[in-house]
Amino acid sequence: MMETLILKTDENSLSSAKKILEEGGLVAFPTETVYGLGANAFDGEAVKKIYEVKGRPQDNPLIVHVHKDYDIERIVCDIPQYARSLAQKFMPGPLTMVFKSRGAVSPIVSCGLDTVGVRVPSHPDAQKFLKYVDLPIAAPSANISKHVSPVTAGHVYADFAGRIPLILDGGKCTGGIESTVLDCTGEIPCVLRSGLVTREMIAEVAGDCNVFVPKAGEKVRSPGMKYKHYSPNCLTMLFSYAERSRAAEEYARQRAEGVKAYVMCDESLAAALEKDVPSEHILNLGRSGEEIAANLYYKLREGESVADLIIAVAPEKQDGVMVGVMNRLTKACGGDKA
Ligand code: TXA
Ligand code: MG
Repeated sequence: MMETLILKTDENSLSSAKKILEEGGLVAFPTETVYGLGANAFDGEAVKKIYEVKGRPQDNPLIVHVHKDYDIERIVCDIPQYARSLAQKFMPGPLTMVFKSRGAVSPIVSCGLDTVGVRVPSHPDAQKFLKYVDLPIAAPSANISKHVSPVTAGHVYADFAGRIPLILDGGKCTGGIESTVLDCTGEIPCVLRSGLVTREMIAEVAGDCNVFVPKAGEKVRSPGMKYKHYSPNCLTMLFSYAERSRAAEEYARQRAEGVKAYVMCDESLAAALEKDVPSEHILNLGRSGEEIAANLYYKLREGESVADLIIAVAPEKQDGVMVGVMNRLTKACGGDKA
């Protein structure tokens, strides 16, 4: 077991981070979405360690993170005009764009695909870190595979204490769900994973935008999407908004049996359920889509630390940012655990 340091991002911690990465080690760092677990993307052996430490399936490619002044054409090619416009508008920010690889980063990053996902995170500490190390950093979310993604340094520590040397602490992530993954290898961009940059926002800049919907039997294009994901270490149930009164009944039934049941829902539903579910048993996600996204993983992690069972109820609103939220909530708490 190694010692795992949690350090604020400063000259001292950045120089340790650089040394660790140059020696083929891993460093966890904050971004505006979730924390990442980074390795030098040029170093195949270092990238392999990410898969080992996370227990990540070998066919799920990693995103490469670079600072805002990094010339991404060093690692990818065939960048269409619409992608340049999108980069202007949304980078730095919670958008990952998939392009054809130049073959510069290790093939292990993309699991042998001929493409690479590139992201420029906007979190100031992420920018400082990427600038200081001046390397493209391959990084998935810094959680054990299938567990809830981390939005604080403490969450990363809970999953990896003793297994990685350094966590850069940048406070609580403000975005709260992972970046939108956008395939930019075709004539029209295509959302592979929804996030805070919505299909509508992309279409407004790019003229048009598709959303990839896997059909039965079809090859999955963002391989990560086929796995069970984001799951808290307790039992879960998911009710639709229409089933909200059944959720309250389930809560009462479980409590009567001595089960520590908690209800996860948005603020308006929390108010509506006030008579049936006391506020100390509610994991309140907040009001707007952005607020709900920012609280989702935080509340799932809080929930697993106190609850035997999380009874999640979907918010009424399902558009915009809520598309990404519902995708995560369904995988975390729903029956869709393939
Ligand atoms: O916000 C985020 O994206 C966070 C932070 C750390 O940047 N990272 C993150 O990484 O969520 P990860 O590994 O948990 O998810 C990466 C997703 C997966 O669904 C993966 O399949 C997809 O991006 N992806 C990566 N490279 C790809 C590629 N070349 N083609 C298609 N999908 C790709
Ligand atoms: Mg992940």
